[in-house]
Amino acid sequence: MALPSHISLFEVGPRDGLQNEKQVSTADKILLVENLAAAGVKRIEAASFVSPKWVPQMADSGEVLKGISRVAGVRYSALTPNLKGLELALDANASEVAVFAAASEGFSQKNINCSIEESIERFIPLIEKAKEHNLPVRGYVSCVLGCPYDGEIAVSEVARVSEILYKLGCYEISLGDTIGVGTPVKARKMVEAVAAKVPADKLALHFHDTYGQALANILACLESGIRTLDTSVAGLGGCPYAKGASGNLASEDLVYMLHGMGIDTGIDLGKLIEAGNRISAALGRQNGSKVARALS
Ligand code: HMG
Ligand code: MG
Repeated sequence: MALPSHISLFEVGPRDGLQNEKQVSTADKILLVENLAAAGVKRIEAASFVSPKWVPQMADSGEVLKGISRVAGVRYSALTPNLKGLELALDANASEVAVFAAASEGFSQKNINCSIEESIERFIPLIEKAKEHNLPVRGYVSCVLGCPYDGEIAVSEVARVSEILYKLGCYEISLGDTIGVGTPVKARKMVEAVAAKVPADKLALHFHDTYGQALANILACLESGIRTLDTSVAGLGGCPYAKGASGNLASEDLVYMLHGMGIDTGIDLGKLIEAGNRISAALGRQNGSKVARALS
């Protein structure tokens, strides 16, 4: 298969990033989302309606979604682990929601306090209700290349959970290397195994960059038919239930690589870097993107 001519970026910095950074103000979060949209990002995960006891950083998600000056054509997404989360997302007028499962039992228990099968039972009524409201649902599968609790994960299990979520009605399945342990050949084999069950153009890659492998892993999968990549501006974040995990691959680093390869993203790299620098300053941390540091 040939390289794609266009890649759709799914920006997770305001959610996956900020859920694992120190608290910033609601106004800073809103500004981040608005700056990302101004840079040309069309899909932004802006909120997470989870228990505030589990993830206090996301407690103001409703105010964030309600406070954004929305741009036509941009989709503002929210994580929803259960019906309560969906109600809150509907109230805040999210453009779409996402359910999140895992390919490992250990992570499922630690992250959402239930087994994989219980989580799927929980998602069935959620997806049905979202459909009634014409709300698209995305599906995440965590620990696709390894688990901090269970170690190696069989690709057959990743494919099984992905297929279930897809058949339940998730429009896209995002494959999470939650702790960033994957390497290129392994990543490609995993994607090929999942693509035998779910069309490759309905898959997204969500690679954390803990071991510095994310760009290489993405490159290894680009000719497998993948059209969507999840990244986090300034490399924000990690995962509160995966100790030591660093943020997702920095959006700026991916955009630089893709543009250098002649692959269009529709994103203005300069404006993206400004958005990342602005939130990094609010957090009092260095911008985690090498490209942003080189070009700033
Ligand atoms: P639980 O304790 O088993 O559930 O948590 P519960 O139903 O017994 O509820 C406990 C309390 O939470 C109750 O409040 C509920 O009302 C409240 P209390 O009566 O004690 O005052 N509650 C909620 N509040 C707000 N919004 C809700 C909600 N649901 C219940 N939606 C639960 C189960 C799933 C809620 C909990 O485990 C949880 O919130 N987990 C989320 C953990 C999380 O956010 N992890 C990070 C996101 S996943 C991720 O980062 C991976 C990803 O990026 C992909 C990758 O990298 O692999 C997506
Ligand atoms: Mg993640």
